[in-house]
Amino acid sequence: MRTRSAAVSAKLPVLWHGGDYNPEQWLKYPEVLREDLRLMKLAGVNALSVGIFSWAALEPEEGRFEFEWLDAVFDSLEQNGQKVILATPSGGKPNWMAAKYPEIRRVDEKGQRDLQRARHNHCFTSPVYREKATTINTKLAERYGKHPALVMWHVSNEYSGECHCVLCMEAFRGYLREKFGTLEALNDAYWSRFWSHTYTAWEQIEAIDPSVHGLVLDWKRFVTRQTNAFLEVETAPLRKITPGVPITINMMGTFPGLDYQAMAGHVDVISWDSYPAWHRAGDDAHEGMRTAYMHDVNRGLKGKPFLLIESTPSHVNWQPLSVPKRPGMHRTASLQAVAHGSDGVLYFQWRKSRGSAEKFHGAVVDHVGHENTRVFQDVATVGADLAKLSAGPNGGVTGMSTPAEVGLIYDWENRWAIDASQQARNEGKDYEPTVQAHYKAFWARGIPVDIVASTADFAGYKVVVAPMLYMLRPGVAEALKAFVAGGGTLVATYMTGWTNENDLVHLGGWPGGGLQELFGIWVEELDALADGMTQRVRAVDGNALGLMGVYEARQLAEVVHLRGATAAATFMDEFYAGTPAVTVQTYGKGRAIYVASRNNAEFMDALGAGLRKSCELRGTFENVALPAGISATYRSDGVADYVFVMNFSRLDQTVKLDAATYHDALDDKAVAGSVTLKAYETRVLTRAAR
Ligand code: GAL
Repeated sequence: MRTRSAAVSAKLPVLWHGGDYNPEQWLKYPEVLREDLRLMKLAGVNALSVGIFSWAALEPEEGRFEFEWLDAVFDSLEQNGQKVILATPSGGKPNWMAAKYPEIRRVDEKGQRDLQRARHNHCFTSPVYREKATTINTKLAERYGKHPALVMWHVSNEYSGECHCVLCMEAFRGYLREKFGTLEALNDAYWSRFWSHTYTAWEQIEAIDPSVHGLVLDWKRFVTRQTNAFLEVETAPLRKITPGVPITINMMGTFPGLDYQAMAGHVDVISWDSYPAWHRAGDDAHEGMRTAYMHDVNRGLKGKPFLLIESTPSHVNWQPLSVPKRPGMHRTASLQAVAHGSDGVLYFQWRKSRGSAEKFHGAVVDHVGHENTRVFQDVATVGADLAKLSAGPNGGVTGMSTPAEVGLIYDWENRWAIDASQQARNEGKDYEPTVQAHYKAFWARGIPVDIVASTADFAGYKVVVAPMLYMLRPGVAEALKAFVAGGGTLVATYMTGWTNENDLVHLGGWPGGGLQELFGIWVEELDALADGMTQRVRAVDGNALGLMGVYEARQLAEVVHLRGATAAATFMDEFYAGTPAVTVQTYGKGRAIYVASRNNAEFMDALGAGLRKSCELRGTFENVALPAGISATYRSDGVADYVFVMNFSRLDQTVKLDAATYHDALDDKAVAGSVTLKAYETRVLTRAAR
């Protein structure tokens, strides 16, 4: 679908550029605050996240509030041409509060209450913390709700973690009672006669027992649920007092601790913090692919544009090694986010702090304090780029959709279930890298992909890829069947349909849950290959997927029996030599493809080529093979396309263009035939929508 979503805020209907701004740290340095305003203009900054960790400055003593400094920040930014993304301060609680109300400090699994330190460590169930957050959020909304600079709420900071205090455990039991009704139903769902874990009273559910996998999953679901409950407490006054101001939280990619697919509905805008490890391995193409994937995960959470709300202008201070971005990399990393659906580029942090943990973290403004640094100039270049990309009709690329014909399933609950499972190969289960390996085959071809939960609506896709869909949540098997019956192509792999949503195994063989009928196969067992061992996969002559020759599998391979499907490739080694390695079955108007082993990059590439051809998938360019390390994707509103061509390699590269008429949106020149990209260079081309 080629559409345009409304901009995040009508007050700033362009691509956003800015970042985390901590003026509360500099109140004793008024000359620095004045200089910030001058520098923000030079950097082309239009939006700043303010107040993220300001609670102690806003409420220095219980019930005594100081807003004057923030009033001044709001007014001076507005006069200077910048808008404010106002944070609620719950990510860091003041010392006085932690001392007076110990219940707001988290308790670990062993019952130990945390000392006051660091951040992101409040109990999300505590009525006191909820009340304190409600009070400060109410005051912020009342005071700044009508300020012309306010464009969005940034609720808390990177919600994460869990608490095992008495209040949280009571809430957990309440959730289980609501879910199961009776202990008998819970015991059945948890298969709790195993190791004599039968629960005979709700109070017995106190520790998270890693041997009871249903319980492990429900605890993780509860943590997300309780985080959502706290988020709802935080947003209630904001929604009431400032109904028109959108709400976001800053998420962390595919952070395993929270199911963002279950949180997306609680916010208006998806935002995320992206910190790729550029230049750490010799080749940045892999990191480019991985980061593209993460952006697409975020776009998939709501199926519309998102915001890159934190990224570093140069390096971070918390990775074992963080190489400052080489020339070109900052621009390419920033434009890559926009290419994949971000309506802005924001940084952590505007200015390096003078003390404490993040004083040596990359920032737009360094301790030297002026604009004559490489990093500042790189940021200013991105500011100018974003202004150009916002300049077309209706905000240029702002709000444009990504026309994906492929839906790739990445599902948090499935990940949790795979992680919890104990099986023949526990090292290298690698769910997420496997999803990324499938993603790469499309990324390298310039084919846009949506990344979605297993419970998504598949209707708009030509192809759905469901790697390692071990756990089938309710309705998923039926939805996959309906998708294929209606003409779609489904690709699944080894480890599909083993368990239900409580992690109880489907009886009657794999893939379970009714999927044997869809794939026309029965899987008898999973072979775990020792490290270094391979299993060869030979394409069957004339197969429907265009596979050719011999490929290699490692780590995991299944013994498959045909029950109606046709083999497109067979294994060559071990006791299951000659059995199917890839199968294809026609089902209704579509096809269900099963890949029974973890195959090498050559196979994944061939599968990508086969799907592109047989499903007539539209790429960014028509009939153009992208050189290694180059990626291309596009956004469209159905009238114009913005095509991003990105070089993630250290080599200059030339990319042939197709026959469309192109215009370089950054250089404002016509382009035809080909474009040449220097190391880490990105070009943005416009054309009439196709
Ligand atoms: C983020 C966090 C920021 C800052 C940044 C440093 O995870 O939200 O507050 O600490 O990391 O990279």
